Amino acid sequence: MSTLTQSPAWQALQVHQPLIAQQHLRTLFANDPQRFEKFSVTFNDILLDYSKQPVTTETMRLLLALARQQGLASWITRLFEGDKINSTEQRAALHIALRADQPVWLDGVDVLPEVKRVLQQMEHFTTAVHRGEQKGYTGLHFTDIVNIGIGGSDLGPMMVTEALKPYAVAHLTPHFVSNVDGAHLAETLKPLNPATTLFIIASKTFTTQETLANAHSAREWFLAQGGTENDIASHFVAVSTNREAVQTFGIDPSNMFEFWDWVGGRYSLWSAIGLPIALAIGMENFYALLAGARAMDQHFLSAPLEKNLPVILGLIGIWQINFFRAGSHAVLPYDQHLHRFPAYLQQLEMESNGKRITRDGEEVDYDTGTVVWGEPGTNGQHAFYQLLHQGTPIVTADFLAPCQSHHVIGQHHHLLLANFFAQTEALMRGKNADEVRAELTTQDISPAKLEKLLPHRIFPGNRATTSILFKKLDPATLGTLIALYEHKVFVQSVIWNINPFDQWGVELGKQLAGRILNELAEEQKITSHDASTNGLMAYFKSNQK
Ligand code: F6P
Repeated sequence: MSTLTQSPAWQALQVHQPLIAQQHLRTLFANDPQRFEKFSVTFNDILLDYSKQPVTTETMRLLLALARQQGLASWITRLFEGDKINSTEQRAALHIALRADQPVWLDGVDVLPEVKRVLQQMEHFTTAVHRGEQKGYTGLHFTDIVNIGIGGSDLGPMMVTEALKPYAVAHLTPHFVSNVDGAHLAETLKPLNPATTLFIIASKTFTTQETLANAHSAREWFLAQGGTENDIASHFVAVSTNREAVQTFGIDPSNMFEFWDWVGGRYSLWSAIGLPIALAIGMENFYALLAGARAMDQHFLSAPLEKNLPVILGLIGIWQINFFRAGSHAVLPYDQHLHRFPAYLQQLEMESNGKRITRDGEEVDYDTGTVVWGEPGTNGQHAFYQLLHQGTPIVTADFLAPCQSHHVIGQHHHLLLANFFAQTEALMRGKNADEVRAELTTQDISPAKLEKLLPHRIFPGNRATTSILFKKLDPATLGTLIALYEHKVFVQSVIWNINPFDQWGVELGKQLAGRILNELAEEQKITSHDASTNGLMAYFKSNQK
């Protein structure tokens, strides 16, 4: 057994779990009229309600004891103080510096001036594009921006530009190309005019195969459509930590926006990786996004653990994953603008905490991370909620919704929120045999048919959800929400004693793909892999024409 699972705090939770598991959530609510007040917290415009989770005051006390036992407070300090807590890469994880307004020290140097320098470069560039001072090779203003990047160099900026569409500047349309499937680039470029299109090549390492392939093809398209080599400078900019590779690609370093190795890819939307966001919504709104995240940073750093939103969200996840064995976690935004939020969180959570080795190099004997997925409500209700209500796997869910909509159309927002409240209530309460019987007896159904139908119409309920309501999806609130989840992931990594800031797991596939790429060009039969891979490659090759 690992030190963690043997530890007093873990063991205490294990003893406590059956006592909670035997009580239906309905009963917990019936027994305590104060349950909502006890198990909900607010921060700024955000309300986090975890009263529909299987917790009591004792559960929270034990979870907080686990957090203390794992030294959470000192890990939070280490995160903010720029310690090299990404130990396998010997790096700090200083995304908080990207939105800070006070000095942030790394190896005795304040990184804030560098951060501000790049923000100013972004501001200058964004203003120039918006005013039409920075324009295309024929003298026309830019109308379209194409961000070419993948993973953290795509998901964050793409999610935010979608989420903040109501703040978009009218004359610039952002596009995102990530997939190396040529269809993504070709379909994106099809309607675009090269003379009014600005490309942002976004890659922390500037070695990512997919991004470089798309960037080269975008350049070829630009040249084939009338642009010249001399025009590349005004149509292609890069965001990267790798100056040399940017130069080798052919982008002038003066057109490069820098960031640093202490910014993890999936934590980078606050850096120059956010350039498409700034271009899409303006620098002032980008600063508001940063300010929102900064507010959450301060809260995370200073609020007591029992009132600390990321701590609570993280601990609820631990309770579900490790003690209730929840198999997956759905993120269900009741806000169409947040339609890419689940995809963004997939990388944030699964790439960060999808680890099986502790910081001490031991294999874990407990689950770390979980499958994260989701779709906006109400669409999900007509697709997969059936399984949430009556299926066998244990799925937990975060429901998110704004109180105010950017689009006041008739009753739409009330309809949307009525569904949010109805679903979380239904998942919690369910419908028991007596309730189903009472309902069916009012209908014209024979007693025999009623009894036959009964088991199908029963909802067990007791399905746990967390609700997050916020006033309006504005830049500051979105910044706060994203930072909430970033810190939640960190809290969980501390409990699990894993490093959330590396991602060695994606390397194996990358290495193999490089080797296979060469083999696909060879004439002879490939025999160097397992029979399945050899067979698949042979089938692919023989069906190329
Ligand atoms: O998927 C692995 C990964 O390294 C992610 O962590 C990262 O966000 C993505 O690839 C893109 O990397 P880069 O920004 O270096 O192109």
